[in-house]
Amino acid sequence: MKSFQAETENLREQLIAWRRDFHRHPEIAFEETRTAGIVAQRLNELGLEVQTGVGKTGVVGILEGAADGPTVLVRADMDALPIQEVNDVPYRSEKPNTMHACGHDAHTAIALGVATLLAQHREQLAGRVKFVFQPAEEIGEGAKAMIDDGVLTYPTPDVAVGLHVWNTLPVGQVAVTDGPAMAGVDSFRMQITGSGGHAAEPQQTRDPVIAAAHIMTAAQTIVSRNVRALDAAVVSFTRMMGGDAFNVIPDSVELWGTLRNFSAEIRDILIERLGQIAQGVAQGFECTVDLEIARTLPPLINDSNIGERLRQGFASIRPDLTVVDDLRTMGAEDMGLFLRAVPGVYFFVGSANSQRGFDFPHHHPRFDIDEEALTIGTSLLTSAVADYVWSR
Ligand code: NI
Repeated sequence: MKSFQAETENLREQLIAWRRDFHRHPEIAFEETRTAGIVAQRLNELGLEVQTGVGKTGVVGILEGAADGPTVLVRADMDALPIQEVNDVPYRSEKPNTMHACGHDAHTAIALGVATLLAQHREQLAGRVKFVFQPAEEIGEGAKAMIDDGVLTYPTPDVAVGLHVWNTLPVGQVAVTDGPAMAGVDSFRMQITGSGGHAAEPQQTRDPVIAAAHIMTAAQTIVSRNVRALDAAVVSFTRMMGGDAFNVIPDSVELWGTLRNFSAEIRDILIERLGQIAQGVAQGFECTVDLEIARTLPPLINDSNIGERLRQGFASIRPDLTVVDDLRTMGAEDMGLFLRAVPGVYFFVGSANSQRGFDFPHHHPRFDIDEEALTIGTSLLTSAVADYVWSR
């Protein structure tokens, strides 16, 4: 594997400047027009073939090598979150209630860095690199929107790579996990309907509040009693709504929640059992239930052969880093949609530094990263891509 560490070092100030600029000007899902504009301009300057408006606000840039060869897709997400930043840093978000609290500002800067480095070596590339700057990862819709717009065709990628800066991993560590690395997600909402009335005369009602409480409690047995102990799954209720007064039993209660899995088999179990429990318990309490599965993403599954190749390569060019292979998270990522269609790897680049206060979790209003992750991420991602398109 070819090292780009020294060349990346020359880009250090530029990477930090890009990341901080995106951080100061965050944009939430499908509103990434400023970010996309800067990305498109930079890719144009580098001489890439650029397409904008892919999946609403996405940008695609194709870097053609001098000779023919495989197509490598590089994916970076661009969107921020509706969170008010409370960090007191010079590059703090200037937009109220909007913040890059997941590190997608870093991903966008890193992918621009990779494009910059590889564009300087166009003559040595056999194949092409398709840079995919994706919108709306946080709502799980951006990858689908870009795929619907044809991002996986003309040319169809042979390999897909991407990375996430990761704040539970210390800076200097990198995780390339084989197989399932991030969870599949389903969101659900259910409406439990009974018959309301005076809280002092509950015998005249069919109380949906009690039914909802029992459904939530019974649903905790799905993971503990229906899923094999060695398999991973999560059932979480996240919102309950019902009632307006202390002395009125409402007609209905609404529950929201999320199901997480690492395989289609477990997913089927979670959905089936949630439905059975909700129906059965509601019926026991003389209520009815309407269950709707609202949002779905598959688990993110890395290709083991590509993973092994990258782990060995990273370890050989960067002996100063620690490369681990066992980081899995129940968090979800719509990069999983690309990896379902194209073999590839999504790896984690440690960005935590507790001594400097960079160890708040993702989506926290104090989230921030050790910017050393920018150079580490750029050099490793460039090397990973070059491993497939460098002419030998
Ligand atoms: Ni993220």
